[in-house]
Amino acid sequence: MSEVGIERMGFATTGLFLDMRDLAQRRGVDPEKYIIGIGQSEQSVAPSSQDAVTLAAAAAKDALEGEDMDPIDMVLLGTESGVDASRAGAVYVKELLGLPDRIRCVEVKQACYAATAALSWALDYVSKRPRKKVLVIGSDIARYGLNTPGEATQGAGAVAMLVSSSPAILEIEDDGVFLTAEAEDFWRPPYSNCALVDGKYSTQVYLEFFSRLWKRYREETGRSIQDFEAFLFHLPFSKMGLKALREALKEADPDTASMLSERFEASAAYSRRVGNIYSGSLYLALLSLLEGEALEAGSRIALFSYGSGAEAELFSARVKEGYLSRLSPERHLKMLEGRRKVGIDEYEHLFSDFPPSSPQDYVCDKRYFSGPFRFLGVKGQQRMYEADE
Ligand code: COA
Repeated sequence: MSEVGIERMGFATTGLFLDMRDLAQRRGVDPEKYIIGIGQSEQSVAPSSQDAVTLAAAAAKDALEGEDMDPIDMVLLGTESGVDASRAGAVYVKELLGLPDRIRCVEVKQACYAATAALSWALDYVSKRPRKKVLVIGSDIARYGLNTPGEATQGAGAVAMLVSSSPAILEIEDDGVFLTAEAEDFWRPPYSNCALVDGKYSTQVYLEFFSRLWKRYREETGRSIQDFEAFLFHLPFSKMGLKALREALKEADPDTASMLSERFEASAAYSRRVGNIYSGSLYLALLSLLEGEALEAGSRIALFSYGSGAEAELFSARVKEGYLSRLSPERHLKMLEGRRKVGIDEYEHLFSDFPPSSPQDYVCDKRYFSGPFRFLGVKGQQRMYEADE
C-alpha cells in the first residue's frame, strides 16, 4: 500500500477566552484545582455567531492557504455540535470555502471519536485514489452548563487535516485497534444544547479503554513503549490524558518516561488554553506537539482517540522530514494571544445567548462577529452564514 497521511493541518478557535482563575474565583473554588487538578488554564468562549460550521471552515481555510483545491474530492466533518439534525454541516463548510459542486460532503458522529472515523475513511479513500485528497475536520463547541462540574472543561475550536498520498507532515500507519462498548458516561439528548456527563465514570471508562487497547496493540504489533517518541491522547481536559500516559509509562525505562512526559506537556499546551474541542481534541494535541517540539523524521507517535458512549482507537503515525515547514506555529500562537479575555458576567451572557430550538427567527449579536466566517442567525427556519469578501 502506498504511503498515506496528513499533508496539511489548520486550526481555528474563537476570538474570546475565559481565564480559569476568574472562573474559580466566581465559583468559590481553589484555582489550583482547575489549573493543576484538572489541568486547564484558559478556555475559548464561543459567541453564538461562531458554531461548529464557522470554526470548521476557518480551520480548513488555515490548512488550505495557498493550496490547490482541485484534487479535493470530499469534505468529512466530525462533530457532536451539529447545527441540523438532518443536513451535514460539511455542506455549509463546502459552500463557505467555495469548493466545487462535484465533491462529496458528509458529517460523521460518534462523540469525540468522529474525526478519527472520518480520518480512517479518508485514508482508505486516498489509498485507492492517490491523486485525490480529502479534507477531514473535527469541530466542536463543548458546553456543559453554567455552574456544573463540567464547566471547567468547556472549550471551542476546530482542527482541519488535508489527507493525501503525499503526507508531508505525518504518515499514518495501518495498525489501528478498536473497541466499542455501551457506557452511559456522556451524552447529549436532542432537546439540550449542553452535554450530560458523569465525569468520574467517563475517566474510568477512558482509562479502561486505553489499557485494553494498549494491551491489544502490543500483542498485535509486537511493539512496546520504547518504540514510541510520543504518546498523544484525546484531551477533554489535560489531566485525563496524563492519567492514561501514566498507565503506559509503568513499563517504560526512566529516560523514555521522561521524554514521553515532556512531549505530553508539549501536546497539551494548546488544549490547556483552548479547552475541550471534542472531536478535534486529539488532533489539536498532535498540532500542539508538532508545533512545539522538534521531532526527528521517522519518529513514531501513538494516538489514542476516545468518544464517549463509548468507542476508542489506538493507532500510530510517523513524522515526515521537514514537517515543520508545513505548519504555522507563529500564526497559531498569535491567534491564541490575540483573543480577548472576557469576564464572568460577559461569559455567562454569551453562554446563555444561544439560538432557540423553536421555529422563531434569531439574530446573532454583530458586536461579537470575528473570524473569516460568521453565523448570522436563523430566518424562516433557515440558517444563514457569511464569509469575508
Ligand atoms: N489543588 C490541586 N488539585 C486539586 C485541588 C486543589 N486545590 N482540588 C481538587 N484537585 C484535584 C482532584 O484531586 C482531582 O484530581 P485527580 O482526578 O487526579 O484526583 C481533580 O482536581 C478534579 O477534582 P474533582 O473533585 O474530581 O473535580 P470535579 O468533581 O469538579 O470533576 C471533572 C472534575 C473533570 C470530572 C469534571 O470537570 C467533568 O466531569 N468534566 C467533563 C469530563 C468529560 O468531558 N468527560 C467526557 C469526555 S471523555
